[in-house]
Amino acid sequence: MEIIDEAKNIVLIGLMGSGKSSIGRTIAKRLGRRFIDTDRYIERKAGKTIAEIFNLEGEVKFRSFEREVIKKISQYVGIVIATGGGAIKDPENFKCLKESGWIIALYASPATLYKRISGKRIRPLLLEEEDPVKKLEEIFNERKSMYAQADFQVDTENKEIDQIADEVISLLNVGSKIG
Ligand code: S3P
Repeated sequence: MEIIDEAKNIVLIGLMGSGKSSIGRTIAKRLGRRFIDTDRYIERKAGKTIAEIFNLEGEVKFRSFEREVIKKISQYVGIVIATGGGAIKDPENFKCLKESGWIIALYASPATLYKRISGKRIRPLLLEEEDPVKKLEEIFNERKSMYAQADFQVDTENKEIDQIADEVISLLNVGSKIG
């Protein structure tokens, strides 16, 4: 039986390709919760893709949209949130998300992350990079101290979405027992 605190949000963080959106959607379905992906939310509100926002308005503007959205949805209760990989670079974003619920950091090796995202949606931070795997490693090194502050750390390497969703739900059940 699930004993996860219904008021607490479940927030997924991690690099691009770590599975935040697909795992988040699966967890939301299993727990009957609403799911919000911050990037998709920004795209709907802006009427542009993330790549277009970066291209036309720049990263600074994107980060300000991201900050606004995180502030807003951190007020919601009992939802599942998938953040963009860089959302937690801003300590204020991390604080808002942390206060709203559990934070789960998802990990995979840079090579696996790249395999998962190549040929999918454009990731502006990797565009025109000669060695995107190396770039992912660099981005990870810049952000790892923030990811490490999550309540739970989950390795997604060589695992299926359903298996990872199970793992997160059981961690949250255990976490809820001990408060
Ligand atoms: C970013 C990750 C992307 C998106 C934007 C910036 C980042 O989201 O928010 O391209 O800074 O790592 P995903 O993590 O969903 O790819």
